Amino acid sequence: MDIPYPEPRVTAPNRFYAELLLDDYAGPTSELTAVHQYIYHDFTFHERYPELAELEECIAIVEMKHLELLAETILLLGVDPRFWYVRKNRYVYWDASFPYYGTNVCDRLAADIEAEEGAIKQYRAHQAMIKDPHIVALLERIILDEQHHLALFTEAYKKHC
Ligand SMILES: [Fe+2]
Ligand SMILES: [Fe+2]
Repeated sequence: MDIPYPEPRVTAPNRFYAELLLDDYAGPTSELTAVHQYIYHDFTFHERYPELAELEECIAIVEMKHLELLAETILLLGVDPRFWYVRKNRYVYWDASFPYYGTNVCDRLAADIEAEEGAIKQYRAHQAMIKDPHIVALLERIILDEQHHLALFTEAYKKHC
């Protein structure tokens, strides 16, 4: 999308906000999961569906940009952006079982659509809980990309499945 990203900024350090963002960063539904899911789909589509492989790779690169923007924000909020998230008051590391690996083009694209829908839903929920306007604006910009990804994956699904 040809719209610039806001510079990561925060009003004040805030552990609670950082821990919410860790979910978007490296939780089960997260940028880190999306990067891995899409590059795996890129690798497996490479031979038979070069055009889909290219799409997965391009979207993965955008998710990596989101990962970076969230890492910078989490640092400003005062938390170490390791690849972890919080469950039951404990920091838990990201897990390679989070991506949906799949077995064919249609179940993979369906999972990619679901991943984008889940991301948008989670970002919206976090926007409602975060009162810092800089973070809300950053999430709004990221959501624009996710909506675009959702449209691209949906179009690919309709074409191939
Ligand atoms: Fe993303
Ligand atoms: Fe996305």
